[in-house]
Amino acid sequence: MEVIDAIWRRASIRSFKPDPVSKETLHQILEIALRAPSWTNVQPWEFAIVGGEPLARLKKALAERAANQDPPAKPDIPWPVFLEPYDRRRKELGYGIYGVKNIPRDDQQKKLDWYLKGVQFFDAPAAIILYVDRSLNEWAILDVGHLSMCILLTAQEFKLGACSQAAPTRFPEVIRKELGIPDSKLILTSIAIGYPNRDDPINSLRSTRDPVEKFAHCYGLD
Ligand SMILES: Cc1cc2nc3c(=O)[nH]c(=O)nc-3n(C[C@H](O)[C@H](O)[C@H](O)COP(=O)(O)O)c2cc1C
Repeated sequence: MEVIDAIWRRASIRSFKPDPVSKETLHQILEIALRAPSWTNVQPWEFAIVGGEPLARLKKALAERAANQDPPAKPDIPWPVFLEPYDRRRKELGYGIYGVKNIPRDDQQKKLDWYLKGVQFFDAPAAIILYVDRSLNEWAILDVGHLSMCILLTAQEFKLGACSQAAPTRFPEVIRKELGIPDSKLILTSIAIGYPNRDDPINSLRSTRDPVEKFAHCYGLD
């Protein structure tokens, strides 16, 4: 697959077939993705690759915690408050998802059910939890972003689909407990990964992008 094609075709996958992903395949994907750049090649990332019984236990524990909002969620990196234009883009995605899933905007139960599905990695057969040592700072997060994109792109070559996910890592204390990750690690984000269920219309959702002119400030170009 050519690079442009891979970037253009990638989209978040939020429904998976139950078929397991082999350890060997995941290992291959990560071996390739680890070619991601990092500042002075410090390679600050660490990750847990979870499947089988440990994933089933993790999903259950996350769902139980997420269903109970007391005490409030305390992610290792606080969730931002979205002002405009970010809030508009965020809501457009949300309404797009609710539209495909036939979830009325005022149906709190169906919204909660969808949220809990997300917290449980959309039933993916495997999940990757990405974290870094607390001694590092924002630069390491940027490096993990590079790695994440490499994983998402490489997965396609193996006919896999994936979704970057902050929802499960909203509850780092659950992940720490279930996987034995020490408090010295900052749990950043996760990736649900598996074979896409192409019969589910949610996987055909194509998110929008604002045009280049919205983001680009050009200097000295003709
Ligand atoms: C750091 C990060 C966290 C995300 N968390 C979630 C999530 O919790 N649930 C979800 O459905 N999608 C999540 N996404 C996926 C985004 O919604 C998605 O990338 C965006 O809408 C663009 O759509 P696309 O990936 O299909 O191009 C996340 C993406 C990133 C980069």
